Amino acid sequence: MPPLRRSRLLAKRRVALLFYESSTRTRTSFELAAKSLGADTVLVSALSSSIEKGESLKDTGITLRSLGAECIILRHPNSGAPYLLARSTGLPILNAGDGTHEHPTQALLDLRTILFRLSARNRLSDAIAPLNSGVLRGVRIAIVGDILHSRVARSNALLLPRLGAQVIFCGPKELLPDNAAGIGPGVSVERTLEHALANADVVMMLRIQRERLAGLQLDLEDYTARYQLNPERLARHAPDVLVMHPGPMIRGLEITSEVADGPNSAIMDQVQHGTAIRMALLSRALQSRLANTSKEKQKRS
Ligand code: CP
Repeated sequence: MPPLRRSRLLAKRRVALLFYESSTRTRTSFELAAKSLGADTVLVSALSSSIEKGESLKDTGITLRSLGAECIILRHPNSGAPYLLARSTGLPILNAGDGTHEHPTQALLDLRTILFRLSARNRLSDAIAPLNSGVLRGVRIAIVGDILHSRVARSNALLLPRLGAQVIFCGPKELLPDNAAGIGPGVSVERTLEHALANADVVMMLRIQRERLAGLQLDLEDYTARYQLNPERLARHAPDVLVMHPGPMIRGLEITSEVADGPNSAIMDQVQHGTAIRMALLSRALQSRLANTSKEKQKRS
């Protein structure tokens, strides 16, 4: 990957990364994005801070604000936590994944990956044209696996159909309720992986979230037999499909190494697009905060 071009756009601005759950891709790319724009960053993680002693999300947020944080990037196990933090601090909060609810920056980097890859195959008119509601018209995207617990699936299902794509959720009943298509227009449910693949331009494989499976009876051997993306399935049902995975992958469970590292895979592209997307979001969040603060000062003077 080429080194990031440094900019001073956010010089002297302070960004806090507040992570209550583990992360490799999101945390690192947010931090690199902030640093490449010249911002100062500080990481607070649940296991090495006063959160471990019982400090609330609200008190943690207010403390970070008092220390000069102007924007907080939050990953939290509870759905809706970013809204609570925004209300209690008044700061721009960037959602780095909240419970089983949403992972919006992942959906944006997935979109960027799809646009770049499909446009390279001439499936789309122009990836760098302004986005419009038809830019993904006719593109079918299968999202396979643990839909029930996946904030990535939810964010993508809310975003991609707005640009014309059809989203096909695929998985067993335990991980994909019948009513999942009700999430919005342009989303359907397909139980058989082979059928979903045969109709897809893109397939996004999801990790089985063992940490959220409590109480669910899932036969992993049976799941692997029915839903694993392996070279035989790919060759037979979707030899040209673009393979994506938000990570972390469990190789040998939802996807094999041959597929993850093979020519159809855009998985490392996804990781790389993450930094650019997060640079854009940080610039937007901090620059609009600066503009609002100046307007308030003008009003007061
Ligand atoms: N895709 C994603 O959110 O990965 P991390 O958990 O490593 O951030």
